[in-house]
This record gives sequence, structure tokens and C-alpha cells, in this order.
Amino acid sequence: MSATVVTITNQKGGVGKTTTAAALLASLSNRGARVLGVDLDPQGSLGFSLGLDIEHCKTVYDVFRGEVSTEEAISTTDTCDILASNILLSAAEIEFNKPGREFLLKTALSKVKDRYDFIIIDTPPALNILTVNAYVATDSLIIPMSPEVLSLLGVSQIKETIESVRNYYNSGLTVLGILLNRFSPRLRLNREVMELAEQIASQLGTVVFQSKIRSSVSAAEAPAHGLSVIDYAPRSNPAADFESLCSEIAGDKFPIDTDSKEV
Ligand SMILES: Nc1ncnc2c1ncn2[C@@H]1O[C@H](COP(=O)(O)OP(=O)(O)OP(=O)(O)O)[C@@H](O)[C@H]1O
Ligand SMILES: [Mg+2]
Repeated sequence: MSATVVTITNQKGGVGKTTTAAALLASLSNRGARVLGVDLDPQGSLGFSLGLDIEHCKTVYDVFRGEVSTEEAISTTDTCDILASNILLSAAEIEFNKPGREFLLKTALSKVKDRYDFIIIDTPPALNILTVNAYVATDSLIIPMSPEVLSLLGVSQIKETIESVRNYYNSGLTVLGILLNRFSPRLRLNREVMELAEQIASQLGTVVFQSKIRSSVSAAEAPAHGLSVIDYAPRSNPAADFESLCSEIAGDKFPIDTDSKEV
């Protein structure tokens, strides 16, 4: 069985892509799934936030350059396996200019896909060759949004990118849903936020996930401890919300292991 590949994407910065990628990896891993996290962001946040020394480990950049195999570049953390990234990857747009450059990641992952149940890809806040590599290599997309920056502006760009990738490289690409992050159920704006999110979802031919992620300082603190919020603060609101998201996405194959969780 080959891994299901899910990409977390939004060209806007700071909406919770890395937080979501780390939480899904941790939740899936705790449920017994074999998972690989792939960081395609030159900021290197996914590897860093799961405790890796990203300046001194092998990265996806080394793989793209053909200097190491995918297997050799995979690091191990307490949470899961990670194909890390660092600032060197920012040269990608210029450096990888040969025909077929859109398939670098797909090719790299094909060598390890049968070892995992899920591969979760974190992407930069951009729509560039790195994002396209993720869209080509993935089965589906999750688009996190936060109410502060929620707007219809920018939806057409991501829609165009998705459609181009579908037309030229990956006809099966689907959008699993829009994920509302930093959601405050008490906010009076709540209904407006939901309506806007529904509008965006319908433009992208998808839905808004039932699960919404509430804010908590523990989500902001977790990366400095090298852990996802799921493992850093398992009783926090965002941890519960991400567990619910994970069940929405993968609960049929990997139901939550209630026996091992403290109540
Ligand atoms: N639900 C939440 N509650 C509190 N803080 C959060 C929550 N989600 C994310 N954050 C914090 O907001 C900041 C941005 O989140 P994150 O890094 O996941 O966004 P991103 O989309 O990956 O950003 P970038 O576009 O720069 O890669 C981080 O400091 C993170 O810890
Ligand atoms: Mg990020």
C-alpha cells in the first residue's frame, strides 16, 4: 500500500500551515500510522518545530540536487520521520530550471511512498515552483485560513494554480477542505466568518471542515519545545480540535486510540 499524500497550503503567511502539518503528523503517529513530514518551506519551520537541527541535517534540497537519496535525507524525530528543509531551498526557483522541474518532489517521494501510511507536506507562503512540486506530488490539499486574513482576495490565484496543476500534471488533485484556524466560537463575527469561508470553499469546489481550530497560547509555545501542540499540550483546545480534524480526515483507517489517552 502506498502512502496517502496531503499538502497543507495557503499563499498567505501565518495562517497555521506548519502548526496544522505538525499536529496531523503527531496525531496520526499517535494513532499508529506510519507518517513522513515533508518541509518544502525554506523557512524550515516544520523540521524546527519538531525539534530538528535543520542547519545540520540533510534536507530536501540535497535530494533535489541529486546529492543524497530520499532515504538518506530523512531524519527521525520523537514525533515522526521528517524530510527537512532550510534556507538553501530558497535557491530552488532559479537553480532547478530544467524540464521536469515540477516533478522533483514526486520523484523523490516515489522511492519511499510504500513505507508510509501518510505523507504530510508543509509549503511556503507562496505559489511558486516549490508549491507546484507539492501539488504535483500530492493526492489532496488542506487550506488553513485564519479569520483575521480571511477574504476572497487571493482565492482566484490559488484556484488558478490548482487548475493548472490538474490540467498539466496531476488530474486527480482534490481539495479536502478549508480549515478555520484561530477560530473563536464566541466571536460575534463568527457567522460572517463562516459565511465567507463557505463562499471561498464553494469557489474552490470544496467544503469547510466541521472541525475548527481554537486559539491557545500553547499552540504558539509548542514549536520552541520541539513538539506539536498535540504532544506539548494534549488537553488544550487546539489539541482536541486537531484530533477531531484528524478523525475527519483519517478516522476510518486510524480511529483515535482512546485507551492510551489520559482523560
Ligand atoms: N490555533 C492557534 N492558537 C494560537 N497560536 C497559533 C494557532 N495556530 C498557529 N498559531 C501561531 O501562529 C503563528 C503562525 O502559525 P504557523 O507558523 O503555523 O503559520 P504558517 O501558515 O505556517 O506560517 P508561514 O506562512 O510563515 O509558514 C505561529 O507562531 C503559531 O504558533
Ligand atoms: Mg509555515
